[in-house]
Amino acid sequence: MEFYEVIKSRKSIRKYKSDPIPEPVLERILDAGRLAPSAKNIQPWKFIVVKDAQIKKQLVAACRNQEFIGQAPVVICAVALEKIAWCRMGGYWSSYPVDLAIALEHIMLAATNEGLGTCWIGAYEEKEVKRILNIPEDVKVIALTPLGYPDQTPEPKPRKPLSEIISTDKF
Ligand SMILES: Cc1cc2nc3c(=O)[nH]c(=O)nc-3n(C[C@H](O)[C@H](O)[C@H](O)COP(=O)(O)O)c2cc1C
Repeated sequence: MEFYEVIKSRKSIRKYKSDPIPEPVLERILDAGRLAPSAKNIQPWKFIVVKDAQIKKQLVAACRNQEFIGQAPVVICAVALEKIAWCRMGGYWSSYPVDLAIALEHIMLAATNEGLGTCWIGAYEEKEVKRILNIPEDVKVIALTPLGYPDQTPEPKPRKPLSEIISTDKF
């Protein structure tokens, strides 16, 4: 797909077919995450690829019962290794949420390019997700996304016009 077409086609998908994702396709998508930039190239991330139906069911409960998450054949949980991330961004804060967001967006755009759907999931109970996936105490859950073939074609959501979000030279 042409690059800007990928950007325009990506929409949050909340209905999935159960069709499995071929392994080479999944690998290409995950590799797009691996290639993402990160502060000092630390790559403070792990991506937990959940395929087990029982574990997915538990994740649905940990994500405010958003049932569509469990419909997808795969759920990816993006976690940050906070301890190793660069912690002087802007002089005072940690880069890990930015690093992880970039990498997961790479994954989501690569998924779109492969004809697959995703939906950024921020409504999760971190404690529960950590318990279900055996995530260590000092590792942060950043987001989850279902990954599967879309069973809906949502209309694009409105966005603010460029005139509202761009300024020149000064804020
Ligand atoms: C940080 C963040 C958290 C989100 N959490 C959820 C969520 O828990 N459940 C959900 O259905 N969508 C969630 N979304 C998706 C947004 O609702 C969606 O991206 C937005 O409405 C724009 O729609 P689009 O993705 O189709 O362009 C989240 C998106 C972001 C960036």
